Amino acid sequence: MSDPVSSLIARHFAVTDGELRVGRVPVSALAERYGTPVYVYDAGVLDRKWRLLREALTGEFTIAYSVKANPNPALIEHFLGKPCDLEIASAGEFHAALQAGCPPSRILFAGPGKTDPELELVLKEGIGEIHAESLGEIQRIGAIADRLAVQAPVAIRVNPGATAQGGAMRMGGKPAPFGIDEEALDPALDALLSTPSIEFHGVHLFAGTQILDHTVLAAQYRKGLEIAERIAGRAGKPLRTVDFGGGLGIPYFEGERELDMEGLGREVLSLMAEARAQFAFSGTRFVVEPGRYLVGEAGIYVARVIDVKVSRGKRFLIVDGGMNHHLAASGNLGQVIKRNFPIGIVNGLDRPSIGPVDVVGPLCTPLDTLARDVRLPEARPGDLIGIFQSGAYGRSASPLSFLSHPTPPEVLVSDGTDRLIRRRGTHQDSFRDLPDSADGGRP
Ligand SMILES: Cc1ncc(COP(=O)(O)O)c(C=O)c1O
Repeated sequence: MSDPVSSLIARHFAVTDGELRVGRVPVSALAERYGTPVYVYDAGVLDRKWRLLREALTGEFTIAYSVKANPNPALIEHFLGKPCDLEIASAGEFHAALQAGCPPSRILFAGPGKTDPELELVLKEGIGEIHAESLGEIQRIGAIADRLAVQAPVAIRVNPGATAQGGAMRMGGKPAPFGIDEEALDPALDALLSTPSIEFHGVHLFAGTQILDHTVLAAQYRKGLEIAERIAGRAGKPLRTVDFGGGLGIPYFEGERELDMEGLGREVLSLMAEARAQFAFSGTRFVVEPGRYLVGEAGIYVARVIDVKVSRGKRFLIVDGGMNHHLAASGNLGQVIKRNFPIGIVNGLDRPSIGPVDVVGPLCTPLDTLARDVRLPEARPGDLIGIFQSGAYGRSASPLSFLSHPTPPEVLVSDGTDRLIRRRGTHQDSFRDLPDSADGGRP
């Protein structure tokens, strides 16, 4: 058992007779009931992470769950029950949010490349806020809102000139499709303020993801408040909203530590106390929109060992799912995570480790490697591997159609009770027999 696995188990799960229990249910029972590969989520972990965040930020902040981290409807519903708002990035996520019962007024829409039909849809439904990412987008929102005779609630997303370092993927401080460069804010702001069909709401700042150092987050929030204050000054009125984005990290690798939520709470609340005294922030709603932090630790991807093979002295465990289901674990999802995710033989956690092995999926490409040179116990066909920290950017961030294997189902375990929250899918539902209208029109 590698260290990150031990510490995750100590924090969130349990082991009986060498077998992992998720929400008190043995993992082999879940694998038996739902088949493998499968994503399992523990509702208790979702609740624990929520509580830690809520307690750190107290009532000062609205929390908007970032749906892109995991768009499963049952998880969206789970968070809506807290209650919380939602951050979405497409019409598909907007529909998922509405179907989960979220009032449109509690939805924020961010992301580059919003299409006209998407903007029209969310404006007609009465979305809470659109985060504009360019001057062109502001102009399009204005024109669409004018045509629909509605007031578009818009905040301006800023790409800060310099960001505090420390995240795995920086989304600010460099040329980016996200947000409007800090240096070019004035014309964008003037356009917002002079468009009658736009109601200016505030500022969105989000500079990076997977940040594990609370002082980096606090520095980003401080910088964000400085920019927001300048914007309020130019607008001549207090801001209705300031959104600091997501970016709270979770530990994946040896040597990484959990985010210090008490430290974050202390720093951020003292920042807020300063901010509240300023005209720019009187009555302002402060928002965070985390994804990974809330769902990442709750999810485990479980696959079954099909074959154990040695090739020129190197040992391979070949399992029944791979990068097609979990691109991030294979290291092919951008720059964020390149090393091995925490992984274990989850029905044999008490077996001694016997040395390095590559865990590979069933695809005919060397990219399909879920773990490289990882120390694991001896495994036999039929054993179960579990990849931890898989609740965020897992299934939905993977090339599910690649090689046409069935898609993995999802299961939510809540204090001893498990239920299927997404069925296993096949690729038989192809393009045959679709009506002509199926490929166009509705976003
Ligand atoms: C606009 C926006 N908000 C929130 C998030 C969630 O980020 P994280 O999962 O790092 O909290 C993202 C992620 O890319 C994003 O682009």
